[in-house]
Amino acid sequence: MANHSIKGKVVLIAGGAKNLGGLIATDLAEQGAKAVAIHYNSESSKADAENTVAAIEKAGAKAVALQGDLTSAAAVEKLFADTVAAVGKPDIAINTVGKVLKKPMTEISEAEYDEMTAVNSKTAFFFLKEAGKHVNDNGKVCTIVTSLLGAFTPFYASYAGTKAPVEHFTRAAAKEFGARGISVTAVGPGPMDTPFFYPAEGADAVAYHKTAAALSPFSPTGLTHIEDVVPFIRHLVSDGWWITGQTILINGGYTTK
Ligand SMILES: NC(=O)c1ccc[n+]([C@@H]2O[C@H](COP(=O)([O-])OP(=O)(O)OC[C@H]3O[C@@H](n4cnc5c(N)ncnc54)[C@H](OP(=O)(O)O)[C@@H]3O)[C@@H](O)[C@H]2O)c1
Repeated sequence: MANHSIKGKVVLIAGGAKNLGGLIATDLAEQGAKAVAIHYNSESSKADAENTVAAIEKAGAKAVALQGDLTSAAAVEKLFADTVAAVGKPDIAINTVGKVLKKPMTEISEAEYDEMTAVNSKTAFFFLKEAGKHVNDNGKVCTIVTSLLGAFTPFYASYAGTKAPVEHFTRAAAKEFGARGISVTAVGPGPMDTPFFYPAEGADAVAYHKTAAALSPFSPTGLTHIEDVVPFIRHLVSDGWWITGQTILINGGYTTK
């Protein structure tokens, strides 16, 4: 029987400096991971990455921060190569990279479409590809998508539409990597109380989202909170190993699939 405990494991988290990725990183360190490599992209995330490295080390794990724009296959290959060099082959690889655009389809430019595809689909594909090459046997791989995959709503064509392929990448990867005991999942949070959410939304839309989940009245903001998503990720990358190939929405009853 394989050991599915987080204790002693090596973790890689793309977008692991802050918000959801940052909390996953510190949580897995607190659960006993041996080493956590976190990735960040923007210069403005560097201080968050340093703070998260300090929090991981405080929890007793080795930590390294790796920078990169992951919209090229070469950059994702480098991220995995640098992770292996710094902390060893990952047992757990989680991709939280994403970009939102809320706009009518008639106003979306070709450049915007290309960027959304690059960040949400291409990065996720090549992250899964490299995970399939570098993650240890009996490892766990997870991609963060969006609860909008369960919605029938306007204006998110370029966001939900470029996260949607990840559901199929996940299915294929789960079948292909399953022979090595690797679980592959996708998790779609509901509208989350992080700085990622608010700039894309108007005041009316924020007010709506704060009431849109079945359990909204019991959330401090009405929204999904990263603290509600992290325990589920922790489960998926440990004792929840039997769940594979699936996309699961964590949203207090905002959308369903
Ligand atoms: N907040 C929400 O309402 C919500 C709801 C559902 C799903 N999600 C998804 O949850 C995930 C985490 O979101 P969050 O709320 O925690 O916000 P976040 O911290 O801003 O997460 C987005 C991440 O994507 C990274 N990123 C963007 N462009 C990149 C690129 N070209 N190359 C590499 N990395 C890039 C960002 O890095 P830098 O900031 O360093 O550029 C950041 O770490 C995202 O995938 C998002 O789509 C969010």
